[in-house]
Amino acid sequence: MKLAILGGSFNPVHLGHLHVAEAVLSVLGYDRIVMVPAFTSPFKPGAHEVSPADRLDMLAASIPGDPRIAVDGCEILRGGVSYTIDTIADIRGRYNPAGKPGLIIGDDLARTFSQWRQAADIAAETDIIIAHRESSGPVGFPYPYTALDNAVMEISSASIRDRVQNGEPWRSLVPPGARFIIEDRRLYGYAPEDAGNGASGQAPVSGTGVSHELIARVEAEVRSLVSPSRFLHCRGAALTAYDLCARFGLDPDRGYLAGMAHDMAKSLPEGDMKRLARRDGGNFSKLERKKPSLLHGRAGAVLLRQKFGIEDEDILEAVRHHTAGTPEMGPLARAVYIADKIEPSRRNAGENFRDISRFAELDGLFSAVLEETVAFLRLKQTDLSAGTLALLDAVHTRRDL
Ligand SMILES: [Fe+2]
Ligand SMILES: [Fe+2]
Repeated sequence: MKLAILGGSFNPVHLGHLHVAEAVLSVLGYDRIVMVPAFTSPFKPGAHEVSPADRLDMLAASIPGDPRIAVDGCEILRGGVSYTIDTIADIRGRYNPAGKPGLIIGDDLARTFSQWRQAADIAAETDIIIAHRESSGPVGFPYPYTALDNAVMEISSASIRDRVQNGEPWRSLVPPGARFIIEDRRLYGYAPEDAGNGASGQAPVSGTGVSHELIARVEAEVRSLVSPSRFLHCRGAALTAYDLCARFGLDPDRGYLAGMAHDMAKSLPEGDMKRLARRDGGNFSKLERKKPSLLHGRAGAVLLRQKFGIEDEDILEAVRHHTAGTPEMGPLARAVYIADKIEPSRRNAGENFRDISRFAELDGLFSAVLEETVAFLRLKQTDLSAGTLALLDAVHTRRDL
């Protein structure tokens, strides 16, 4: 396997780094790039505002599903000042590349290369690849090298750190996984109140409950479990639940997560759905036995707990009960129930409720959506579950009080 090493601070990793890695793979015919974050660069001691573990995590979160790129934490494990000559020996020993490994350096670093420890040995043991970082002009370099014909991207880690700190747009300059870690861990002075709101087209503001990293993991799982069109329904429900929560004083991120997950078990084979649903400890109702697809809410809640360790009872309840509802369901579950029915990709339902600003309270909107849903089910002569009937009763009783 032809392998090339791409070292750096990755503070944070950005699209320019990934572009260089891709150019080496596709233009120079390498099979794999090993990205190695420095513990401390000999030339930038003390320059890191975040921990080496944060930088390593951002890298690891930026390459899921990409077999062309590995991330190696050897310099961080070694600690101290990171010298390239040590890293080369370590990587060669563990990865066993075919021939000399490539060593990718930017033209900005190429100018100081002769000051690196054992520079001549590095040049002898690797095939040096010089990537354009600052310009596309020629580089004066005293050792043999290959010039990479890559696009120069106007992105630097320093400018991203400044942008995050100053509340300027930065999210599209880093891979999504790195973005979620910066937001969740509040790196580089990230402050959620500077993040804008949905109307500005920026990211959801983090609430106190769930991390963006977890949301991204659940979303990836949902995408793998359901068809593309159902995934769009789930995304519509997630965004609608987010908006409902923001409007009615609930945590929008928890709404998004529950909305995203509500149908995650919907496309499972019937046997799997039953097996999962049974693990919540409840019995099957007569209606559930007759129509097992109704179990997808219960099965989805079990999946969320088992696979992602989610113990937030409000989120689990929202997924569990979105199908039939129950009189006991709390505000988050009500928001998700509504979102499932009115999200914009549903063409034939919910149009009376799309303007949620008409409703002053969540319960008013919930009752109206419930009644429309029940009327629709009756029209189709669909059996109503005991939960739905009890819920309808409860809504009517509350109104009569
Ligand atoms: Fe559903
Ligand atoms: Fe749904």
